[in-house]
Amino acid sequence: MTTESRIDKVLEQLFSNPGFPSEPSGLYAPLGYMIEIGGKRLRPRLALTTYSLYKDSFTEEILQPAMGLEIYHNFTLIHDDIMDNSPLRRGVPTVWKKWGMDAGILSGDVMSIESFRRMTMAPQRVLPLVMDLFCNTAAGVCEGQQYDMEFERMDRVSMESYIEMIGLKTGALIACAAKLGALIAGASESDCDNLYEYGYNLGLAFQVADDYLDAYGDEKVFGKPIGGDIVNNKKSWLTVRAFEKASQAQAEALEKALQMPVGTDEEKGAKIAAVMNIYSELGVDEDAKYEILRLNSKAMEFASSVCSGVRLETLRRFAEKLVGRSK
Ligand code: IPE
Ligand code: IPE
Ligand code: MG
Ligand code: MG
Ligand code: MG
Repeated sequence: MTTESRIDKVLEQLFSNPGFPSEPSGLYAPLGYMIEIGGKRLRPRLALTTYSLYKDSFTEEILQPAMGLEIYHNFTLIHDDIMDNSPLRRGVPTVWKKWGMDAGILSGDVMSIESFRRMTMAPQRVLPLVMDLFCNTAAGVCEGQQYDMEFERMDRVSMESYIEMIGLKTGALIACAAKLGALIAGASESDCDNLYEYGYNLGLAFQVADDYLDAYGDEKVFGKPIGGDIVNNKKSWLTVRAFEKASQAQAEALEKALQMPVGTDEEKGAKIAAVMNIYSELGVDEDAKYEILRLNSKAMEFASSVCSGVRLETLRRFAEKLVGRSK
């Protein structure tokens, strides 16, 4: 059995019974819902993958913290969907759409707490390091989300600020996942650091791909409404890159398009079309694909300082899958 198929099996078992309380159901039902509707489970998969570089079997010492990563991720999605006003995730209604705003806030809160509980189940010998890593990561995600929201109200954002923002909101948790598996397996400090950088660069590539798919993806596969970033005036990788490349006239046209009203579905459609037109004229879609590959190679450079042969291949396959995603 390959490492990947062993990990698939372990994750399936783990999430078939996440062990959440049942009452009050108004509080806990959304947790079960989020876990049942799935998702790629990328973060626990990554933690198990880096753990497997050092250990032959998966025991509770890694399983519960890995699950904590996925629970934390799902909490951020519940709150993110409120903040982004998103009606659809993984092809089904979002928690706030199904149960209302109050449920989304409170169920998200308890989910965050639950993720910390799982993280404390890491082995005693590394517990302070694990909790330090996770607390920094969790606060970093909030910082990134704050910048993401602030950027909506700004006309332009530099590539440097954009990268800092996605490094916090998305890179940090994927980096944390990669390091966590190694840390719990007892890897050296330099391996842990290199795996963190591997995860961080993959995380950046992952968010650039998410921004690309938000404009150019297939809603049925992606599971989220296409054009949401444009409607919300997000400074996605595509927007930031477009301003970098645009002539003065094109930049003015883009600024005007970004200010178009979005009160009705027709208006939303017109804004999405206008912005996409400028994206395509500038070829930022092709640039995004290139940037995703560049970040992937950078991630693999860090991976090659950690291992070689079959183990490096496992990290390469993980990276390739993530980078070639359509959902
Ligand atoms: C979505 O994450 C949020 C981002 C960081 C872009 P995923 O694409 O990993 O979401 P699921 O869990 O697979 O649905
Ligand atoms: C979300 O970024 C990052 C976090 C949830 C922390 P997005 O807002 O782009 O994620 P999606 O597209 O809604 O999944
Ligand atoms: Mg968001
Ligand atoms: Mg969102
Ligand atoms: Mg997105």
